[in-house]
Amino acid sequence: MKATPAIIEAENIKKIYKRGAEEIAAINGLSVAVNRGDFIAFVGPSGSGKTTLLNLLGCLDNPTSGKLTVNGRTVHQDGRGLSESQLTRIRRELFGYIFQKFYLIPTLTVLENILVPFAFFRKEGASQDVLPLLKKLGLENRMNHLPGQLSGGEMQRVAIARALVNRPEVLLADEPTGNLDSERSREIGKVLRQLNEEEGLTVLLVTHNLELAAMARLTISLRDGRIA
Ligand SMILES: Nc1ncnc2c1ncn2[C@@H]1O[C@H](COP(=O)(O)OP(=O)(O)OP(=O)(O)O)[C@@H](O)[C@H]1O
Ligand SMILES: [Mg+2]
Repeated sequence: MKATPAIIEAENIKKIYKRGAEEIAAINGLSVAVNRGDFIAFVGPSGSGKTTLLNLLGCLDNPTSGKLTVNGRTVHQDGRGLSESQLTRIRRELFGYIFQKFYLIPTLTVLENILVPFAFFRKEGASQDVLPLLKKLGLENRMNHLPGQLSGGEMQRVAIARALVNRPEVLLADEPTGNLDSERSREIGKVLRQLNEEEGLTVLLVTHNLELAAMARLTISLRDGRIA
């Protein structure tokens, strides 16, 4: 398939949550195109739909309506979508995810944590030689530590390394510095920027931290489930 610039394209997507008789439009008719090599920060007040949008763009959740195309493939259209196994495949092949809570396995070392996705679903082209990745993230002297022996910033860098071990095209990060002080947040911002500039990694970031958002190439503000 020919590579088009847009790796993710959402057209008029909605995500409606039902709570009893009440309907909440968490995403309310939003269109956005993400091109390869983009670094986008989504910002906006609490409840504006940032997490919902990131989950939709990253195929972790299905829109209620609208059209979503990922890597040239229609993932969802008119209320119909791909099967769960097709979605799982897209998630594994295309995306890496990092979250506010780092979700490291406490009994595994740094190196073992990073290799977990590799052990479960090795992707073609991925390498078991993770040393360059550890070096890039400044973790080469930490690889035999347990997560409990690391600082918060180091834990998040391990989570980033784990998200990158299968060489995703797009890194999705929901409040990756929510648990970190401003110094550590800057560090993570620099790492994301560097991965974007040097490796061409597409980065989609959700954050309340305006300093971190400023590291992105483009900021998109959300309000009430729409682009503000
Ligand atoms: N599973 C759910 N069921 C019902 N409503 C939900 C669900 N998830 C989110 N919502 C609602 O959808 C809206 C958007 O939520 P979302 O989590 O996307 O906001 P957010 O911008 O990420 O907020 P925050 O900055 O607080 O993380 C909110 O009104 C929220 O209450
Ligand atoms: Mg959120």
